[in-house]
Amino acid sequence: MKTPEISPARSQAAQAAQTAHAHTVPQLPTDQELVLKVIPMPADCNANGDIFGGWVMAQVDLAGSVLPARAVRGRFATVAVNQFIFKQAVKVGDLLSFFSKVTHMGHTSMTVRVEVFAERILGTHEGYLKVTEASLTYVAIDAAGQPRPIERPAIK
Ligand SMILES: CC(C)(COP(=O)(O)OP(=O)(O)OC[C@H]1O[C@@H](n2cnc3c(N)ncnc32)[C@H](O)[C@@H]1OP(=O)(O)O)[C@@H](O)C(=O)NCCC(=O)NCCS
Repeated sequence: MKTPEISPARSQAAQAAQTAHAHTVPQLPTDQELVLKVIPMPADCNANGDIFGGWVMAQVDLAGSVLPARAVRGRFATVAVNQFIFKQAVKVGDLLSFFSKVTHMGHTSMTVRVEVFAERILGTHEGYLKVTEASLTYVAIDAAGQPRPIERPAIK
């Protein structure tokens, strides 16, 4: 069977439409690391039927700890939630993607930014919604629970 030929003008128009679509549908960040993906369940709901904020905060703390875990290589603890914004409600069945990047490296601490995006896979919304953003600080601790310096890799 012969494949139908697409005229160059039609293919250009299709490409332009695709580019325009990519610009209007929110995309995931490319300058941050994907540190967690999870789908909230009905058991995680609050009285409104949306996802309980405390559940979201716990996931953000877990996601935020991934980059510090790699850098600190030992015990560490969350010392501060510097900022936490619930921008949009999270729904049951949302496919959540947590992105993170280091915003500050201190002597014993490091601060990360976490952004959470939802794919509303049970609904008709296309693309990604930013539902939460936060900033958290983690401190490397020793066996006695006291702050200890974070070792930096030697520069070769
Ligand atoms: C983490 C802990 C050991 C830090 O002890 P501390 O006496 O506050 O330590 P310091 O004052 O020496 O500060 C240590 C680092 O934390 C930073 N820090 C302390 N309090 C902070 C705050 N409120 N916000 C941001 N950073 C903070 C300091 O700037 C310092 O960073 P630097 O060394 O990179 O400059 C102590 O606060 C603690 O045990 N907290 C409980 C942790 C916990 O249970 N977390 C929940 C479960 S993981």
